[in-house]
Amino acid sequence: MDPRLKRIIDKIKNKNIREEVAEIVENPQIEISGLIYSGLPLETSPASLTRHHSYPGGFIEHIVSTSEIALTLCDVVKKVYSGEVNRDIVLAGVMLHDIFKPLTYEVENESYSTSRLGEYIDHLTLITTELIRRGFHLDLVHIVCAHHGSQVGLMWPKTVEALICHLADQTDSQLNNKVFRAAKYLSRRVTGEELIISKSKEAFEIVHSKAVEGWRGVSKALEEIKRRRQSGL
Ligand SMILES: [Fe+2]
Ligand SMILES: [Fe+2]
Repeated sequence: MDPRLKRIIDKIKNKNIREEVAEIVENPQIEISGLIYSGLPLETSPASLTRHHSYPGGFIEHIVSTSEIALTLCDVVKKVYSGEVNRDIVLAGVMLHDIFKPLTYEVENESYSTSRLGEYIDHLTLITTELIRRGFHLDLVHIVCAHHGSQVGLMWPKTVEALICHLADQTDSQLNNKVFRAAKYLSRRVTGEELIISKSKEAFEIVHSKAVEGWRGVSKALEEIKRRRQSGL
């Protein structure tokens, strides 16, 4: 298992939940009428095809970032609002909410598209049914089921834990999406062409350079990125 994902799972204190979550993450696949579906490796999968983290490795970045945001929200609930929150369920929910997304993608000549499974069943339905099949607790099934909220998803979160996962998921998706869109816009304005950005570090670097040194900064950042790419860094 990728060490970044293992570090998140290791934070789950309840042994049963920790082991059950690890089992799915180690082997993310689903059986439907006798056929086993497994998707892109978690390490190389994007987290969406167009909206956010849509580059190789984006899936794990999304999970790591979402878990950090969710844990911060757990702290706020406890320290500021004196509320109760089950961190184990939050961590398990974050870990599993998109775990079958890589099953809904395929890649050919470095270009991602929706797999046949993904065209027929969405990732929420896939993981929700698998968790029910494996006998997971209703609280955790609900987190996964409600993580898109009711605007683009099936239902609104009904527990604090589900709300935290939903907000953390949404926050990270938007953070990534908006910074990448801004970086692409800035590079297009400077060079006249769309820069293909496949590293979040580069996107943040371009946006930061505009804030610090204006358009000159963007040009310098783009030159530096080009230089690094040419030397294979
Ligand atoms: Fe999702
Ligand atoms: Fe997500």
